Amino acid sequence: MSQFKKIGWIALGAGCVATAIYFSRNAEMPSVERVNMMDSIAATQYLPPDTSLLAHAPQAALIRYGRSLVTNTRKLLGPEGEVAQISNRLNCQSCHLEGGAKATPYSANFLGVAANYPLFRERSGNWETIQYRINDCMVRSMNGKPLDTAGQEMKALVAYILWVGKDVPSKTKPISATIEQLPYLQRAADTLKGKAVFIAKCQLCHGVNGSGGYSVDSTLYYPPLWGPGSYNTAAGMYRLSRLAGFVKNNMPFGVSHGKSQLSDEECWDVAAYINSRPRPHVDFPNDWPDISKKAIDHPFGPYSDSFSEQQHKYGPFEPIAIERKKKRH
Ligand code: HEC
Ligand code: HEC
Repeated sequence: MSQFKKIGWIALGAGCVATAIYFSRNAEMPSVERVNMMDSIAATQYLPPDTSLLAHAPQAALIRYGRSLVTNTRKLLGPEGEVAQISNRLNCQSCHLEGGAKATPYSANFLGVAANYPLFRERSGNWETIQYRINDCMVRSMNGKPLDTAGQEMKALVAYILWVGKDVPSKTKPISATIEQLPYLQRAADTLKGKAVFIAKCQLCHGVNGSGGYSVDSTLYYPPLWGPGSYNTAAGMYRLSRLAGFVKNNMPFGVSHGKSQLSDEECWDVAAYINSRPRPHVDFPNDWPDISKKAIDHPFGPYSDSFSEQQHKYGPFEPIAIERKKKRH
């Protein structure tokens, strides 16, 4: 291979990684980047370490405890928790599937944490440590109380999450560690159409009232999608794009990227239905301190534009995205 070609390949590779990183950090990206991103999946597909090798890791016992806190959060920290009663009826694993180590694209796994924290995030307007980020999910997704950062549970979660991402190079965000940004619909997401999708594709496991329960043979726990046991209104999943992108690549349970059962449209609509149902409401008035950086689908004002909370919740999102782009240029 000529020197020139080699450099070309290196540049292309670096470009892909850069695109992937850019992409994963940009909620509102146009469709061109989406295509480039598909090319870069191979370049950034890292695998979680084999759990059978855990025994050889230093701190093996602590890491194992961390893993069980992720897979069995409800039993350990939930309303009837054996260790503490500080979280809801979800497990971390309800959203961070397979112990936060599901390897296929857009699985919201923990592979990118060791490589990227501390990380600056617009929601807090701050550099966040891993402990801070975990407690963010505790008080939002888990609708609970923060863990004592010096306590054994926090130490174990950190040890496990760092172990899952230990082979990922610094500042790299694997595609598997992200949630897909689906292309916007040209209309507002439709809760009625979404209800029909829910009945056809979700209700069997998550229950008529979305309240979850156990499989007939009790081996699988179906987490609640709404109601008092589910995530609160400050959680990432309460943003339509996060929920729709999660469902596209992970639900009904068992699907993965490339084997989706739902169209993008069905994902937006079912997400709208789920997030239109009642759930715990909490206010985090210090979120998104720079309102011009507020996620387009964050459903609570104030905003730097004149669109309503209703439109920021259900769309159509494209007009908001276009106006925001105009302001930046
Ligand atoms: C209701 C769903 C849900 C539950 C339950 C949940 N999380 Fe999360 N978590 C999210 C979402 C959504 C994100 C943001 C992912 C994204 O936008 O790519 C996230 C992000 C994270 C991150 C940062 C990942 C990164 O790469 O920056 C960590 C760490 C994390 N969660 C830990 C936990 C822990 C520990 C628990 C249990 C105590 C938990 N989460 C429970 C939805 C959830
Ligand atoms: C075959 C059973 C099954 C079906 C069907 C199914 N799910 Fe799930 N779902 C699960 C399980 C199990 C989990 C938790 C995964 C775990 O704990 O490993 C889950 C987790 C979730 C979560 C994250 C946790 C929470 O409660 O918020 C969401 C959101 C979700 N499912 C949405 C859906 C949607 C939308 C559909 C229909 C398109 C659907 N699911 C269909 C079994 C199912």
